[in-house]
Amino acid sequence: MKALVTGGAGFIGSHISDMLIAQGHEVAVVDNLSTGKKANVPESAAFYEKDITEPDIEEVFEAERPDIIFHTAAQISVSRSVRYPMEDANINTMGALRLLDLCVRYKARKMVFSSSGGTIYGEVPDAPATENYGFHPVSPYGISKMSFEFYLDFYWNEYGLEYTSLRYGNVYGPRQDPHGEAGVVAIFTRLLLEGKTPTINGDGRYERDYIFVEDVARANLACIEKGSGDAFNVGTGVATDVNEIFAALAEAVGFDKPVNYGPPRPGDLIRSLLDISHAREVLGWKPLVSIKEGMKATVDYFRAQM
Ligand SMILES: NC(=O)c1ccc[n+]([C@@H]2O[C@H](COP(=O)([O-])OP(=O)(O)OC[C@H]3O[C@@H](n4cnc5c(N)ncnc54)[C@H](O)[C@@H]3O)[C@@H](O)[C@H]2O)c1
Repeated sequence: MKALVTGGAGFIGSHISDMLIAQGHEVAVVDNLSTGKKANVPESAAFYEKDITEPDIEEVFEAERPDIIFHTAAQISVSRSVRYPMEDANINTMGALRLLDLCVRYKARKMVFSSSGGTIYGEVPDAPATENYGFHPVSPYGISKMSFEFYLDFYWNEYGLEYTSLRYGNVYGPRQDPHGEAGVVAIFTRLLLEGKTPTINGDGRYERDYIFVEDVARANLACIEKGSGDAFNVGTGVATDVNEIFAALAEAVGFDKPVNYGPPRPGDLIRSLLDISHAREVLGWKPLVSIKEGMKATVDYFRAQM
């Protein structure tokens, strides 16, 4: 099978590419390297340094004729989307729509979309959110992720293009950008390894559903044959707060100073947690990596990079 991974030089996309190749699939990667790195692209993948918002992205479809597209390329910063909503929509909506049109014209079978559970559901105060929790996005980023799920459904009904939307929790692991504003695990790991004390925004009791990147890549591969016309939460179903993340990383690094606390970040959700029973039942997928194992693998990776 021929797969096209958009954003395949990035964090999640590169792990999907690695796993596809390990399972014997042919992989082409498209990435404009805005945050991704060429070094993340597996050697045996064809690489196109192109922007999904530009018309010449068609050349990739012409040359590769992919069966399936794993669409991970995106503007990923929530706060940037608040500052520049048109830029967010240009990449996350218009660029993604350009890909959908090309999928139809070049007869791809399916798109697997990297959506976001945290930002499309909004605050989840009680039990973990199922896929039917309802949409309460509070940022342009969340709105673009939510609306693209509707476009996918439209293309399925209108043109028969299969799709699966995967709504991730907070993904962490090797190759996450430690310099961005997303990804507390990567940011804290880098600081701790440099011997610097991280600052937690607010009281650190903000809870998230942290999921290891290889588990996310496995969920994507499960969608090659399963889950068409549907959306699935991809998390662990376990809430972890930022204080616990700091403690686990500090232990893995061997850092023994107390953390700093700063003012809370406006707009941060208090609690976001995903119910993953639908993915277990339909995709036959479940997370395999515990928080402790995942944190250790992340620390080992960043230590080796330094
Ligand atoms: N990391 C998370 O916790 C998380 C959570 C929910 C959803 N997601 C989604 O998963 C996907 C992957 O995120 P990530 O964490 O790997 O981020 P990332 O920044 O590492 O990967 C995104 C990749 O897309 C590329 N890209 C950006 N704009 C592009 C454009 N216009 N044309 C071509 N390439 C472009 C970047 O260079 C980068 O390599 C994104 O769609 C993101 O919204 C991530």
